[in-house]
Amino acid sequence: MNDIALWRKSWQDEVDANFLYQVLVDCAISDKEKSLYRELGQCEAEHIDAWENLMQEHQENPGRRKPSTKAKILAWIGRHYNTGFLQQYMGQWEGREVREYLLLHLKASRPETRAPAANWLTRRARIHANR
Ligand SMILES: [Fe+2]
Repeated sequence: MNDIALWRKSWQDEVDANFLYQVLVDCAISDKEKSLYRELGQCEAEHIDAWENLMQEHQENPGRRKPSTKAKILAWIGRHYNTGFLQQYMGQWEGREVREYLLLHLKASRPETRAPAANWLTRRARIHANR
């Protein structure tokens, strides 16, 4: 996968994560949970902006922010059937995202792909360390 395809895939993953964290904010009962999911969603929104900026700098149009079909199905399950399942899924998503950004940082061919990955890993670690 070339770097532009990686940017596009990462961008869609971030759009989905931002959307799903918003669902968790809506479903959360406690203020503490709402605050955590809001902060994680904001972090994903910053990642979306960064991928969009990178794509636009390289004359790539990211298109409209739209959750994938998979994210819509997960949202439906979270809202109507089992919020705990969606919480667990997003907990695992956090782990997958860290792994993917580590791989991106190590294997991407362009430095403009590697640098943001390192910055985002640091920010994500800071959010979790403060909780
Ligand atoms: Fe992210």
